[in-house]
Amino acid sequence: MTNMDLKLRSRRLRKNEVIRSLVQETVLSPAQFIAPVFVHEGNEPEIKINSMPGIYQFSLDRVLKHIEELCKNEIKSIILFGIPNLKDKEATSAFNERGIIQRANKKIKEAFPDVLLVNDTCLCEYMEHGHCGIVLGDEVLNDPTLDVIKKTAVSQAVSGADIIAPSGMMDGMVAVIRNALDQNGFQDVAIMSYAVKYASAFYGPFREAAESTPQFGDRKSYQMNPANKREAICEALTDEKEGADIIMVKPAMPYLDIISAVKEKVNLPIAAYNVSGEYSMIKAAAQNGWIDGNKAILEMLIGIKRAGADIIISYFAKDILKILNNLK
Ligand code: PBG
Repeated sequence: MTNMDLKLRSRRLRKNEVIRSLVQETVLSPAQFIAPVFVHEGNEPEIKINSMPGIYQFSLDRVLKHIEELCKNEIKSIILFGIPNLKDKEATSAFNERGIIQRANKKIKEAFPDVLLVNDTCLCEYMEHGHCGIVLGDEVLNDPTLDVIKKTAVSQAVSGADIIAPSGMMDGMVAVIRNALDQNGFQDVAIMSYAVKYASAFYGPFREAAESTPQFGDRKSYQMNPANKREAICEALTDEKEGADIIMVKPAMPYLDIISAVKEKVNLPIAAYNVSGEYSMIKAAAQNGWIDGNKAILEMLIGIKRAGADIIISYFAKDILKILNNLK
């Protein structure tokens, strides 16, 4: 083939940065990120998380400065995780009106009324055994757990949460939360359901961050088998019917096909959780000089969006604006 015969040349649209941007299909914007934030009950302003360089547990006072920092970087949505002093078998600190999350909600809403405040509604951080529900013997009980989740969700709404995000993978959790919120006058509080949550090794670093490692067994009796895709659709449709406003898929990177499949079937916004292990892998490789961290971060996040995520929950949220500006 001679040059003259070559009419179709895709490279025309790759000639320079301006034309490449002009035809770019997927764009990252800080507006579509949610930053996870850990608050602990002690006085230590920040406690380092060894397995997640750059991520901290903050005290109630110090967390405000962190949120101010996030706002400067155009991150206006956060998801809060609490590390309580007291763990027991009924997760009482999860729904205590003086609990860590409830106090944090009030403080944050007072200081930053415009920040969108999501609460993770799970019990594992509040249970001495680290499981996401009420345990009998070695079983995690579904229906008794729903009562605790319900109380927790209402107490989170009372203290200022805009969005309730149940992550315990109990059957019926969205329906009971919707009912309880409505009965208590919180019709406007939304539910972002961890509808499609796999039993994943990529949560390892989070469990150090949130001090929530199960003390026996694993979470396979409630979180999904990574081998299953049709089950993901079933979970997503169930939660849509039960009244979820946003459907989450978690983790993100090893589950892009799932994000894409769920997006096809569900008409609600899709959130993807770019989890702790995905963060730590990139951080570790970048610290060793094995990959260009910033470029890898953007490539990973754009992949998650391209797969169909409308919203990304990521520990990199705080860095997005800087990375986007520096790489221009
Ligand atoms: C609570 C919860 C977990 C994560 C979010 N909420 C841990 C788990 O299910 O073990 C993981 C988040 C991450 O790894 O970044 N159940």
